[in-house]
Amino acid sequence: MNILLLGSGGREHALAWKLSRSPLCTNLFIAPGNPGTAKLGTNIPIQINEFDRIRQFVTENQIELLVVGPEDPLVAGIYDHFEEAGMLPRCPVIGPSARGARLEGSKAFAKAFMQRNGIPTAAYSEFTSNQIEALKNHIHAHSGPYVLKADGLAAGKGVVITSEPEEAIREAEEMLLGGRFGKAGSRLVVEQFLEGIEFSVFVVTDGKHWKILPEAKDYKRIGEGDTGPNTGGMGAISPVPFVSPELMKTVEETIIAPTIRGLELEGITYKGFIYFGLMLCGGKPWVIEYNCRMGDPETEVVMLRLRSDLVQLFLSLHQGTLPKQEILLDSMAAATTVLASAGYPGDIEKGMPIEAPAADWLFHAGTKREGEQLLTSGGRVMMASGIGQDIQEAVAASQKLAEQVQFKGKYFRRDIGYEFIKP
Ligand code: AMP
Ligand code: GLY
Repeated sequence: MNILLLGSGGREHALAWKLSRSPLCTNLFIAPGNPGTAKLGTNIPIQINEFDRIRQFVTENQIELLVVGPEDPLVAGIYDHFEEAGMLPRCPVIGPSARGARLEGSKAFAKAFMQRNGIPTAAYSEFTSNQIEALKNHIHAHSGPYVLKADGLAAGKGVVITSEPEEAIREAEEMLLGGRFGKAGSRLVVEQFLEGIEFSVFVVTDGKHWKILPEAKDYKRIGEGDTGPNTGGMGAISPVPFVSPELMKTVEETIIAPTIRGLELEGITYKGFIYFGLMLCGGKPWVIEYNCRMGDPETEVVMLRLRSDLVQLFLSLHQGTLPKQEILLDSMAAATTVLASAGYPGDIEKGMPIEAPAADWLFHAGTKREGEQLLTSGGRVMMASGIGQDIQEAVAASQKLAEQVQFKGKYFRRDIGYEFIKP
């Protein structure tokens, strides 16, 4: 069948790699894709938010499966757009409806949803721009650290954590009145701080049933030893050594099951991924955030460990056959290291020539091709991934590949997976 994948990051390169290996995939198109996906299928110059053009392409090219990588088109309602046009029977869309995507698109919605459905999450309050006095009172009545979250999509940058009440108030005013995150910041959530270790769990769901994919741990901070500003993610590993079968069972019973039951009870259509950002705190898992898509760079390790046919799995979400699908996993561990441009996550210089070995698992993100030359074109440039018998070996393979890539200002963390590696 013909498949169209939306997106252009490392996540989409890894998804394209996995989709292209399915015997069910005849032609793979990626919109807009990147130089890495161009080696696995055909990139087409359509942007992820151009719904009418996407629909036209689907019709003209007999696309039978539309896989949505990033959150923006999901939050903007691409699923609903296809449903309203009567196209879902011919071209199932992988991703939630706009109502489902609010799990990621609105922190206030997600928190209220968790509270309604008895899902463990930090206590919270929400404020809009005409509630500054109430917000100040709230901050003064609670001890820090304070966790402030812009309500809407902010490309992973909408969270501020500070122990200082006055700074918390200043930051909140910046968000609510100063327009720091634009419309996304016109409402904010103030959350109780949870201390613990983070990990991520992913499921595919048809809105009623679910299958759990390999878990992962993302290294979000720019600096080694988890220091400095947050980024989109600087590396990832899977499996996560401390995630025991018992812990996963607790996650499934206390978080996954009530989330999907909640979607079903509230009549929310959801046929795609749910990414649970979790914190192990006081011996139990809590939800830090939901995402309505796979993670980046987590996909780059999850796909390396998934042996099941991803196309088959996606089709089952619309055919009602998800319960019969088997998730087969590789026993190998996987790791990925993000190669970033100098300055990331702040201002960066683009257009640096890249020299890189030919490697299937050197996933592209911020790259572009000019003639024969590959150039940097973003903050996160490539994700160098590898597998091994254990995390240590997988990280060594990933770092070795990271070393082999050259471009001016290349930066990568040399401590991915450090907690789990013997010195
Ligand atoms: P989010 O965008 O909601 O995932 O938040 C970004 C990061 O902020 C998370 O990965 C956590 O490291 C941190 N964070 C978010 N919420 C909390 C919380 N309630 N307590 C402690 N840390 C948090
Ligand atoms: N790596 C974090 C995310 O994809 O949200």
